[in-house]
Amino acid sequence: MSKVALVTGITGQDGSYLSEFLLQKGYDVWGIVRRSSSINTERIDHLYHQNALNLRYGDLSDTSCLLAIINEIKEKYFKDLSNVNNRFEIYNLGAMSHVKVSFEIPEYTADVDAVGTLRLLNTIRSTGLSDIARFYQASTSEMYGKVVEVPQNENTPFYPRSPYGVAKLYSHWITKNYREAYDMYACSGILFNHESPRRGPTFVTRKVTIALGNILKGKQDKLVLGNLDAKRDWGHAKDYVEGMWLMLQNPNGPDDFVLSTNEFHTVREFVEKAFALKGFDIQWKGSGLSEVGYDTKTGRELIFVSEKYFRPAEVEELLGDSTKARTILGWTPKCSFDELVSEMVESDCL
Ligand code: NAP
Ligand code: GDD
Repeated sequence: MSKVALVTGITGQDGSYLSEFLLQKGYDVWGIVRRSSSINTERIDHLYHQNALNLRYGDLSDTSCLLAIINEIKEKYFKDLSNVNNRFEIYNLGAMSHVKVSFEIPEYTADVDAVGTLRLLNTIRSTGLSDIARFYQASTSEMYGKVVEVPQNENTPFYPRSPYGVAKLYSHWITKNYREAYDMYACSGILFNHESPRRGPTFVTRKVTIALGNILKGKQDKLVLGNLDAKRDWGHAKDYVEGMWLMLQNPNGPDDFVLSTNEFHTVREFVEKAFALKGFDIQWKGSGLSEVGYDTKTGRELIFVSEKYFRPAEVEELLGDSTKARTILGWTPKCSFDELVSEMVESDCL
C-alpha cells in the first residue's frame, strides 16, 4: 500500500514537524510551497535530501495549482481507484495564521483560510479521489474566541473574535459539511496554541524568547508587548502533529477533536519563567500602558507595554478540554509548560 500525504503549509511550524513525522513513518510526502521573494523553506531545508519529499509551488488562493498537484499525485499513485488499499492523506495546514494581522488583511485571510479550504475539498472531489482521501483541517481554539464556557471542548459553541477566527470557522463547518454531504473522511482538529523553537517570531512566546536572547547578547535593550494578562493553553507543536495524524487513523471514522494541554498560563507568566531561566527576577510596577517589568537584581527595566500590540477585539483566555482525543485516540501531550519554555529559551539564547 502506498502511504501518501499532501501537506499545505509545509514550510510552517506544524508543516515541518508533521513532514518529519510522516517521513519517519515511511510516507511519500508532497508539500505545497508558497512562492516568496525571500527564502521561506528554512524549517524544512534539513529534509531536502529525502527522496520521499516532493515539493511543488502553489497557493491556496489558486485552484489551478491545487488541481495540477493533486492530478500529478493521482497519476503517480492512484491510477487504479478500485484498489481498496489506497490511502491519500491531505493535511490542510496552510493559512494566514496571525490573528492580529488578520484585522489588517481580512479579505486575503478569508480567501486563503476559508475559501482555500473549499478549493481544496472541491479539488479532491473533482479529481475523483474523495473515496480514498482522508482530509485534516487545521481548525483552531480561536473559534471559541469570547468563550461561552470554560474549559472548551468539542461541544462548546463558537464565538470568533477576529477575521482569522471567522475564516477558520467557515473552514471548520465546510469540512463537516463535506463529510456529511459527500461521505468524505474529513475531520477537523481544534488545536489550542502550540509552540516550539520553530514558532514564527511574531507570535508572543517566540517574540519573548528571541528578545531574551537578544537582550543577553546586547542586541536589544527592551521587549515591548501588548496584553500581558491574556491566558493561553500552550503545548508543544511536536505533540500536536502526532494528534493530527491520529485523527486520520481513527478506526471509528472521521470526527473532530480538541487537542490541548488542559492548563493555561498568562503571557506575563511566560515572560517571568523565560527570563528566570537566564537569571532575571522580573517584577512589575505601574499599570495599563504604563506597566513595566524590571529585574529586581539590577533594577533594569526590560518589559514595556504598547497599544500597538493590542487587538481590536481580544481573546482573553483559552483553556481546552482534550478528554475526547485522549480517550478515543489515545493522544496525550508529552511536553510540559516548563519544558516548552525551557526548550524555546535554550534554542534562542545560544
Ligand atoms: P505557520 O507557521 O504560520 O504556517 C502557515 C503555513 O501556511 C506556512 O507554510 C505558510 O507559508 C502557509 N501559507 C500561508 N499563506 C498561504 C497560502 N495563501 N497558500 C498556501 N500556503 C500558505 O502556522 P502553524 O503554527 O504551523 O499552524 C499551522 C496551521 O494550524 C495554520 O492553519 C494555523 O492557522 C493552524 N493553527 C495553529 C495553531 C498554533 O498554535 N500554532 C493552533 C491552531 C490552529 P509561508 O511559510 O510561505 O508563510
Ligand atoms: N503576537 C503577540 N505579540 N501577542 C501578544 C503580544 C505581542 O507582542 N503581547 C501580548 N500578546 C497576546 C495576544 O494579545 C494574545 O492574547 C496572546 O498574547 C497570544 O498571541 P499569539 O501568540 O499571537 O497567538 P494567538 O493566540 O493570537 O494565535 C495563535 O494561536 C491560535 C490558537 O488559539 C496562532 O497560532 C493562531 O494561528 C492559532 O489559531
